[in-house]
Amino acid sequence: MADQKSPIGVIDSGVGGLTTLAQLSTLLPGESIIYCGDNHNAPYGNRSGEEIVELTKKMLAYLAERDVKMVAVACNTISSTFDTPGLAGYQDEYGFPVLSIVRAAAEDIVSLRYTRVGVIATAFTIASGCYGKLINELDPKIEVFGEPSEKLAALIEQGDLHSPAIDAEVGKHVTNLMSAHPDVKDIVLGCTHYPIVEGIFKSKAPHVAFLNPAQSQARAVRVQLSDAGLLYHGQHSAVGTLEINTSGDKPVYDTVISELGITRDWTLNQIDFSAPR
Ligand code: DGL
Repeated sequence: MADQKSPIGVIDSGVGGLTTLAQLSTLLPGESIIYCGDNHNAPYGNRSGEEIVELTKKMLAYLAERDVKMVAVACNTISSTFDTPGLAGYQDEYGFPVLSIVRAAAEDIVSLRYTRVGVIATAFTIASGCYGKLINELDPKIEVFGEPSEKLAALIEQGDLHSPAIDAEVGKHVTNLMSAHPDVKDIVLGCTHYPIVEGIFKSKAPHVAFLNPAQSQARAVRVQLSDAGLLYHGQHSAVGTLEINTSGDKPVYDTVISELGITRDWTLNQIDFSAPR
């Protein structure tokens, strides 16, 4: 039975969820975290909904064995399946809350009174219309404009964060969105990988505010843990443990953890989430 000392699970298709991990580490330093990144099967964003659900269930089943008290789904693409007819519902089967990053970001966008918002995200997230749907359920007047990228998450997964290819891909999508909707001043980085290269986005449109949904999600995790009486109340000096489980390789984690300024100690296990345990 999970309790206050139990870890929080964080899942992503790859290294992108480290952006949520960075925010959680700042907001809830005492909480222990088990991270799962399915780098071997990334990018998820060009896959079918059925494939994404099948892969996601394997990470959730693994975390159920690890007795987590909550799972933050850092991946926008996975979170979009929760609100896609025919796919939704599976996230409620695990006995712990499974939190959508898209829902957390949508709630913030509404409460912060945005009016016209761009979303750059994976092909699946944009095709699902999930951002628009969740935002407009709360406020039908907010206009949401999507711009899909089939390549950017995969380029970031390669770990060369200052490559000309990333620069060109970011430039292309910011230009596409801004030329179609020149009065948009707020753009959601609607894929967890994108805030890793937030500086490149800013360089392409310095007058635009780029929103990082990982901040919304970390706050949502805090609220939900508190409401459930599951916030960790340990010693003030204690920093939680961080375990990274990945179907990929270590070097890209070294690179991104350093880029995001995550300072807590961590261990890494290479794991095939599909293997029988
Ligand atoms: N990081 C994921 C997201 O937030 C998707 C990247 C991928 O395509 O695997 O959407």
